[in-house]
Formats: sequence, structure tokens, C-alpha cells
Amino acid sequence: MTNNNMYFVANWKMYGNKADIDNSTSLISLSKLKKYKKHKIIYCPPYTLLKTFYDNIKKSNISIGAQNCHSNSDYGAFTGSINAKLIKSTGAKYVILGHSENRNSGESDLIINKKIHSAIKENLIIIYCIGEELSEKRKKNTYKVLKKQLTKGLKGIKKFENIIIAYEPVWSIGTGIIPKNSELSRNINNIKKILAKLKKSINTKILYGGSVNPKNVRKLAQIKEINGFLIGGASLSAKKFIDIIKKSIN
Ligand code: PGA
Repeated sequence: MTNNNMYFVANWKMYGNKADIDNSTSLISLSKLKKYKKHKIIYCPPYTLLKTFYDNIKKSNISIGAQNCHSNSDYGAFTGSINAKLIKSTGAKYVILGHSENRNSGESDLIINKKIHSAIKENLIIIYCIGEELSEKRKKNTYKVLKKQLTKGLKGIKKFENIIIAYEPVWSIGTGIIPKNSELSRNINNIKKILAKLKKSINTKILYGGSVNPKNVRKLAQIKEINGFLIGGASLSAKKFIDIIKKSIN
């Protein structure tokens, strides 16, 4: 890993409260230190905490993102939904899309593609999650799955500067199991190749997600192709999140 301009994205999922936000502000001082300034720390709390979180971090180098959005780019009669416009209005800069937990509840590549287009319209930066299920890995279909998710999810996208890819093998999320470094390098290089064909550019950032914690992050950070991490469980603890950041770039 180059250890330059690394991304550390905290995906709080359906957890978090005001006290967790207060604890997280201990990262503000870290983010201001010269050593950490060039890296990106992004918190993605539940929608309900976006504005409060933003008010806490707006004078720091930390950014805020949402964990999903509705596919409709305009306001409309969609009870219970939040679209990219509403997310943008909280001060958020990022949005996670295509997370396997949402794919598993029926989100198709087509819907994700609509969501990506709507988020681009609002100038949000998209953290687009892709990754294979265990059964697909066992059938040696990982490449095919990644290609399909990238091709369909990113169909019609011209503005790749606003796209970050998060490679999250589904079997690794929340399980404590991480891929071998060789497997991870291979899959990330394949993602790069697919992206190069799709958009004729090679600068898209690629993050890894799935059971990242302070114990395994040094090993993961040895993989030079990785530009950062999408961290679920461990990111709710400010102490663990700081530990992950420090160990990744030292
Ligand atoms: P995890 O989650 O770190 O708890 O495995 C990662 C994710 O779902 O983004």
C-alpha cells in the first residue's frame, strides 16, 4: 500500500446514538495532525444522526456520508424514504450504495444503478460496494460476479471522479474471516482491469471491507492496491477506529 490518501470509512449500519457521536469527536484532533491530514476519515451513521454528526465535525477534516438513498432523484411521495437531495442537505458528502445487506433484501443492480445516477446528480461521492457470496466464491465465480456488479451498477456513468469502489466479499462481512492477501490482491487487480475497460481510466480508489479490525489491519494494509477500508463493527468504537487508522498508515 502506498499509505497515501487513504480512506477510512465508518459504516455504523443500524447502530449509534448521540453518545457515540461525542466519542467519535476524539478523531477530530487526530484528523488535524499533519500525519493524518492527507487521509480521509468518513463517518456514515444512520440517517437520523447525519445532521447532528455534521454539526459536530464541520470544522474538522472529517466528512459525513449516508448508508443508502432512494433511487428517485426528485422529491416525491415515497413514505419513509430518503433521497440524495435530502442527504446532501444534511452536509453529507458521501453515500454508500450497493451494500450486500441491501442487495440481500432485494436491491438489484438496476436499482443500484439508478441510485448511483441520482447521487451523482447531487454531487455526492459514491462508495459503491461489490463482492461475491461464499457460494459464488466456491464455484469460482468471483470474477464473473464482480464484472456483472461493476458493469450493471455503473452503466451510463461518466463522472468516475465521484466513484469509489469498496470490495467487500460477503462471506467476510461480520464473520471475522478475511481473504488471504494473495486472493485480495488478485480480486482487486481484476476490479481495476474491469474498471479500466469500462471507463478508460485507472485512478478509481478501491477500498476493502469485511471484518477489518485493529488486529488484522496491518496485514491488510500491506496490500499496495488497497486505498483504504470500509469498517463496520469496529468503527463504532472510537478507540478501535483510531487504532485501525494508526496501524494502517504507520
Ligand atoms: P464489518 O462490516 O466490518 O462489521 O465486517 C463491514 C461492512 O459491512 O461494510
